[in-house]
Amino acid sequence: MVKRTPLIAGNWKMNFDHLRSIAFVQKLGWTLKDAKHSSAEVEVVVFPPFTDLRSVQTTISSDKIDLRFGAQDLSPFDSGAHTGDISGEFLAKLECSYVIIGHSERRQDHHETDEVVTAKTLAAVKHGLVPVICVGETSEDLEKFGAAAVPVGQLRHVLEALPADAEIVVAYEPVWAIGSGQAATPQQAQDVCAALRATIAEVLGADQAAATRVLYGGSVKAQNIATFMREPDVDGALVGGASMDIDEFSAIVRFPQHVTTV
Ligand code: PGA
Repeated sequence: MVKRTPLIAGNWKMNFDHLRSIAFVQKLGWTLKDAKHSSAEVEVVVFPPFTDLRSVQTTISSDKIDLRFGAQDLSPFDSGAHTGDISGEFLAKLECSYVIIGHSERRQDHHETDEVVTAKTLAAVKHGLVPVICVGETSEDLEKFGAAAVPVGQLRHVLEALPADAEIVVAYEPVWAIGSGQAATPQQAQDVCAALRATIAEVLGADQAAATRVLYGGSVKAQNIATFMREPDVDGALVGGASMDIDEFSAIVRFPQHVTTV
């Protein structure tokens, strides 16, 4: 069976200017080093705002910090008359490894449809960035359709357009759990993550499904991460609020040390 390296991702959203991002990344680097963190055991990725990316890139490279980083969005286009947009080509030049696509805040604030999310995912793959495709249901969806139907439909739309060998990460983020302090239960997360993996198997094949990391996101904290990571289909977490606190985020990254005791 393929071993999926757990992935802990910190989505800073619209927080931290570039000066704070430098201090944060340096401190996170020291903290993880002191804790003897190894990225072979748990991969850690931060997602700063666009204006911080160059600073984060140079800090990570000059201080040799064991961290990867990505952007929170990208344009579906490569270049041209798209004022305010950022091309995947630029992100790749900045050594971004990942890019978040279709976060519920973008689906809401910028009316991003499944078509837009699909076009952005294709752009990411084209430029060698690993898309972190976010899917999730609102509380109204949950009541009407149950937990899995909406996220599975959102994911299927993207997968059907993808080359079968594209590396992707999927993040299940129930909208009602984001920033609410009310996380899904580990069982709810497991059920939807398993349904998402089954969809990957159906559309892209069993090997892709076995290799793809499926994350849970929504009010993840140091105190609940271990309960999610015990679930067989949860391969990591997309963390918002708690990713901006060094102690909290590094405790989340160190979940293997408390996975059996919580
Ligand atoms: P939260 O955000 O951890 O603050 O709930 C998660 C996210 O939006 O990715």
